[in-house]
Amino acid sequence: MRIRVSPVARLAGTVDVPGDKSISHRAALLGAIAEGRTEISGFLEGEDCLATLQAIRRLGAEVTREGAGHYLVDGAGLDGLQESADVIDCGNSGTSARLLLGVLAGQPFWSVLTGDASLRSRPMGRVTEPLRRMGATVFGRDDGRRLPLGVRGARPLKGLEYTSPVASAQVKSALLLAGLWAEAPVSIEEPALSRDHTERMLAAFGVLFARDGRRVTIHPGQRLRGQQVAVPADISSAAFFLVAAAIAGDAEITVKNVGVNPTRTGLLDVLRAMGASIEAIDHPGLWARGRDDARSRSPLGRGQGEASHGEGRETEPGEPTADLVVTRSALNGVDVGGALIPRLIDEVPVLAVAACAAGGVTRIRDAAELRVKESDRIHGIARELGRMGAEIRELPDGLEIHGGRGLQGATVDSGGDHRLAMALVVAALAAAGPSVVEDTQCIETSFPGFVQAVNGLAGTSCAAVEP
Ligand code: S3P
Repeated sequence: MRIRVSPVARLAGTVDVPGDKSISHRAALLGAIAEGRTEISGFLEGEDCLATLQAIRRLGAEVTREGAGHYLVDGAGLDGLQESADVIDCGNSGTSARLLLGVLAGQPFWSVLTGDASLRSRPMGRVTEPLRRMGATVFGRDDGRRLPLGVRGARPLKGLEYTSPVASAQVKSALLLAGLWAEAPVSIEEPALSRDHTERMLAAFGVLFARDGRRVTIHPGQRLRGQQVAVPADISSAAFFLVAAAIAGDAEITVKNVGVNPTRTGLLDVLRAMGASIEAIDHPGLWARGRDDARSRSPLGRGQGEASHGEGRETEPGEPTADLVVTRSALNGVDVGGALIPRLIDEVPVLAVAACAAGGVTRIRDAAELRVKESDRIHGIARELGRMGAEIRELPDGLEIHGGRGLQGATVDSGGDHRLAMALVVAALAAAGPSVVEDTQCIETSFPGFVQAVNGLAGTSCAAVEP
């Protein structure tokens, strides 16, 4: 599929974006290993999260769809999962694969995981190596570092003290989940704080653990109780509209009910530092704790220490949410790096688009992880924005963008990466002249209804075109 995009003169109105991808995966997985029923509303029915639902069904959890985004998961408990009769296909979803590896490491049976060509090329050793140390058996390509992988769990697993070389919530979550079947504590220290949805959701399901700065420890012998989970809108999907409103035409838009967990709000901090006007109107409630984290500023540059959030605090059992109101502003370039990067890792492609519209230079560093996402996002966004006339240079660990020159309409290609596809649509909305974004079927992995949502704010500028 391809999308033809005309530039917009005006973007206005209110938009609902789908449920948070990270939180939806976790709600399904924790529901599957909890005792009793978990009721999930706002579940993201994109291909990635549907892969996780399919996986837990194969492993014996009962899943009932009550309506759009509304699911009941009758959990198998920690002892009730069963061997899948077939290979578990995680599609394009790194979160499904890595979190499932953590769960499967504790199961006394064989499982085989695979995925699409992109996922089969992504590094899994960062998860399988520490899981092997805990006692799991892993066979597969590249000596157990690439899918397809066969896993036979051990029970109990051994405890682990692990210092992760990468700030990855997927690694941290896999090890915390495996820790549920360990005979001794499992501690993970990461180089910078990654998203803490697993910790918040485990806390909501009744699991206690200790946090000390960037180290989190789970203690053995704990069980999960089924919960009600209301998944907030995904800030990583909202990001496309936040940037579109900041750079395209005459804009004022509201994105409703967005998850503003401070481990995810780096883009808000950066856009504000660039001069964007973003107001956050908080919500109260169980999965909406109402803290004004979206307003708080964290260090933007490298070497300015850790972001302060999460350090030495109790993990809260829930997720804060807010409506975000954005108006068009004149933007200036910024330097972005250090502990901020994990807080906006998925938003870098669309941040690069904002940087093209900003006066001056934007440098994004310490983001080499982007090279092992669904595609090499540093290379992909530099190449495609370059086709639109951007002055953008790849760095080994990021991008350097000389903004303010304006983008030209062009034919660009997502390379099958959903976040590149949507970032390029946003670039095209702000370009001079029409564009075509090729290879956009992948948007279904995280944002079904994206084109309709854009059109709801922009009139008919964005039309899906069949090949
Ligand atoms: C995710 C964590 C991040 C992110 C991904 C989702 C998660 O990956 O890029 O889209 O749900 O845990 P890493 O943990 O590998 O950085």
